[in-house]
Amino acid sequence: MNKAIILAGGQGKRMKADMPKPLFKVLGEPMLEWVVSACEKSEINDICVVKGFRGEMIDGYLNGRCKTVLQAERLGTGHAVMQAVPFLKEDESGNTLVLNGDAPFIDEETIKNSLAYHCENNNSVTVITADLENPYGYGRIIRTEKGISGIVEQKDASEEQRSIKEVNSGAYWFKTADLITLLDKITNNNVQKEYYLTDTISIAISEGKNAGAYKSGNPDIIKGANDRKDLLNLNTYARMMVIEKHLANGVEFTCTDGIIIERDVEIGTGTEILPSTIIRGKTRIGNNCIIGANSVIENCTVGDNVKIDSSQVYNSVVENNVTIEHYVHIRPDSHIKTGAYISDFVEIKNSVIGEKTAVSHLVYIGDSDVGKKVNIGAGTVTVNYDGIAKSRCIIGDKCFIGCNTNLIAPVKLGKAVYTAAGTTVTKDIPDYALAIDRSTLKVKEGYTLRKLKSQL
Ligand code: UD1
Ligand code: CA
Repeated sequence: MNKAIILAGGQGKRMKADMPKPLFKVLGEPMLEWVVSACEKSEINDICVVKGFRGEMIDGYLNGRCKTVLQAERLGTGHAVMQAVPFLKEDESGNTLVLNGDAPFIDEETIKNSLAYHCENNNSVTVITADLENPYGYGRIIRTEKGISGIVEQKDASEEQRSIKEVNSGAYWFKTADLITLLDKITNNNVQKEYYLTDTISIAISEGKNAGAYKSGNPDIIKGANDRKDLLNLNTYARMMVIEKHLANGVEFTCTDGIIIERDVEIGTGTEILPSTIIRGKTRIGNNCIIGANSVIENCTVGDNVKIDSSQVYNSVVENNVTIEHYVHIRPDSHIKTGAYISDFVEIKNSVIGEKTAVSHLVYIGDSDVGKKVNIGAGTVTVNYDGIAKSRCIIGDKCFIGCNTNLIAPVKLGKAVYTAAGTTVTKDIPDYALAIDRSTLKVKEGYTLRKLKSQL
């Protein structure tokens, strides 16, 4: 069975943070997540992550999804893989992919095509390479008439070798059984006094085994981050890569300033995304919507012809033809049904808002089921929390809730109930009734004249 080892032992000192480098995020997801998910998409599910610096944080993130092994001392990439020998010995029959945990753009296609090349050539080891305009810092691929003869690190390379543009991506395929024996033969006899995984190539060749290089057409697979500036560059690159995918799918962007769309987001054709809009997680947006400006949508399902402007929507469902605009906050577990209109300083939490219902100004709806064609007046509050427990409010179809109504939960309003402005509803109201709770208005004529006489 094929499996993978991901090297994630590095601290990334130049990041200036108390966190392993592979946990830094690119477009909302740790770099390690990009690498693990590339393996999983390539149907490699037996994965061992080599952790080192703050290894417990790697375990915390993975939460049992992959095996992990600790590299207590950082003695080089070869030494890192040696720590995973017991994992390799669990099943020596197939091939092992080795990847860097801080090079997020390795992709499914490269993994699959390089494996095919590796198998066709019956290689013991296949290194995945690419040509770089600026190869500085990378291991250079030494090619001969017969194939490749090895990899030379920047620090060990001669002037002539440094001019080579084909570099080691840090990703390889090995025959698992051969990797185990090759690791035994690596020494630290080099400028950095490290055990280089790259030495497996020349060792394999010296033993008469096949070694090859699979050159990827996509040099981005090499991109990694050594400092925060590099990380910003990775984010910028990933951000535009995602936006370009949506452009190709018929999504409209007039200006991409401040637009961040995470990579799993799906958007339908004819939808327009306006500046300063962040769309995260597993969000799906339908066709012909206008999303933004200044909006955040996270883990939502949004239908067609929806408008979301200057608002935030989290973990909720928004059906077709809904408008949510002007500083609305839709909190998790809400369901906004077809044609509803929510606007101007409204907060909704864990509630259903029925078809064609309007909730337009300065309202809080929490833990409530609101029916169809309801009109919620300004200042209405569902009083869902008594300091101990949360309770639900049920508001029937076609109710008209007057301004500044308090609904003390649990409470149920039947069909087409009216509440007078300022009413506090403390008991259930039957269908078609009016709830009015008001003391008699007193008017004291001439009051101001008496009180403020000298100032008028
Ligand atoms: C390595 C390769 C180089 C290649 C480059 C691609 C070697 C000797 N060199 O260089 O040919 O062009 O990657 O990026 O392999 N790590 C550990 N433990 C260690 C050392 C490293 O877990 O003891 C991890 C790092 O966290 C990182 C990966 O291995 O994820 C690569 O290590 P890094 O130090 O960046 O390798 P380079 O020397 O840059
Ligand atoms: Ca590196």
